[in-house]
Amino acid sequence: MSKKMPPTPMLDQLESGPWPSFVTGLKRLAEDGDKPSAKIMQGLLGQLEHSYQTRKGYWKGGTVGVFGYGAGVIARFSEQAAQFPESAEFHTLRIMPAPGFFYDTKTLRQMCDIWEEHGSGLIALHGQSGDIMFQGCRTEQVQPAWDKLNAMGFDMGGAGAGVRTAASCVGPARCEQACYDTLAAHRAIINDFTDDIHRPSLPYKMKFKFSGCANDCANATQRADVAILGTWKDDMQVDQKEVQAKVKQLGRKEFINQVIRMCPTQALGLNDDDTLDVDNKSCVRCMHCINVCTKALKPGKEKGICVLVGGKRTLKIGDLMGTVLIPFMKLETEEDFEKLVELAHNMLDFFADNALEHERTGEMIERIGLVNYLEGLGLELDVNMINQPRTNSYVRTDGWDEEARKWAERKTSAAE
Ligand code: HEM
Ligand code: SF4
Ligand code: SF4
Repeated sequence: MSKKMPPTPMLDQLESGPWPSFVTGLKRLAEDGDKPSAKIMQGLLGQLEHSYQTRKGYWKGGTVGVFGYGAGVIARFSEQAAQFPESAEFHTLRIMPAPGFFYDTKTLRQMCDIWEEHGSGLIALHGQSGDIMFQGCRTEQVQPAWDKLNAMGFDMGGAGAGVRTAASCVGPARCEQACYDTLAAHRAIINDFTDDIHRPSLPYKMKFKFSGCANDCANATQRADVAILGTWKDDMQVDQKEVQAKVKQLGRKEFINQVIRMCPTQALGLNDDDTLDVDNKSCVRCMHCINVCTKALKPGKEKGICVLVGGKRTLKIGDLMGTVLIPFMKLETEEDFEKLVELAHNMLDFFADNALEHERTGEMIERIGLVNYLEGLGLELDVNMINQPRTNSYVRTDGWDEEARKWAERKTSAAE
């Protein structure tokens, strides 16, 4: 153990609870021999303890960057540099993750080596932003660390008022529920928006996230301005023998409690012979019954995506979940992907032209109205553009008959 470990009586208390503590991780790095990274972490622990003692934070921002990029390095300077000089500069590099968060161990080891050489050794895999957070770097080490990460094939993530780093669920690579190729969609969007990620020039941030089904493992609906979720259009696939086996396993009462009664739209019924009756027209593709009965139930065969717009955490107005913008589109052929990228560009352009400073897409839509947003994007109004299933906050009943006639006409001509 290094002799220079600062005393940390208050931080030590955080290790006494039943759960693993981040303090243990910080100490492990700080005790890692005579490495420069260990010294940085000793300084950090010292300052953190000091912060706990005084109940004050001592980090301030600033501007640090790498050549060619206007974003991706989050600068942090200590106001206690005289007392803790080793961690006086503690910048973070945001590095974009691999789609679906796939890495091999060689890649991870290489990342650790680079960060022990140039930074503090502290890596968050992954931050809420979706990035790999390489935390704790002195200003003069930022460029050399970045050059090595870049040479591995990785790119800088988004920060500031631009397109942010995207994130995708593991999708078809490992998950049977995936209704589209989340990894390919993630890549298609990122490759087309690289400039907007690296050089922020929007009113505020804009995020794209990709989940293969409504389980939304990428938390896209809550946090992404543009959430792309997998769904299906036809009937869900039911293996009635497996349904019967599941009923037997759980017992009728539990099956009814866990599956039938939990369906948000009462679309399920249990037949007398313990097979399942699915009212597919009422099913809103929430995934609940499929999650419980993984062998018996699957998404339908006509798979595709649903695009939601406007999710975000609290800002000018409170938290917003995404509103359905495109109820269903296929995402299989090259043209389908091009259509998605074109839609994303239209959304970004409209946001760039119409949002106020420091306003997210969801807030802009609340301010100008969904109808105007749709008009701006050249999209036809559709009853499936919902905020929450069965409680459509955007319904207006003036001119109802005329709008209903137009909608019916559109449906008929689409079917022809
Ligand atoms: C001036 C001081 C600081 C400010 C204003 C600040 C602000 C922020 C903000 C706004 C985020 C983004 C949260 C989000 O993605 O929703 C963030 C993330 C984060 N910060 Fe800080 N931060 C500061 C200092 C630090 C320091 C010194 C550390 C580490 C020692 C740190 C560690 C992190 C981590 C790990 C995240 C990622 C969390 C996540 O994405 O899951 N921050 N910070
Ligand atoms: S969102 Fe759906 S497809 Fe993606 S990992 Fe989760 S369950 Fe699987
Ligand atoms: S997917 Fe959800 S809405 Fe559809 S039948 Fe199952 S529980 Fe009901």
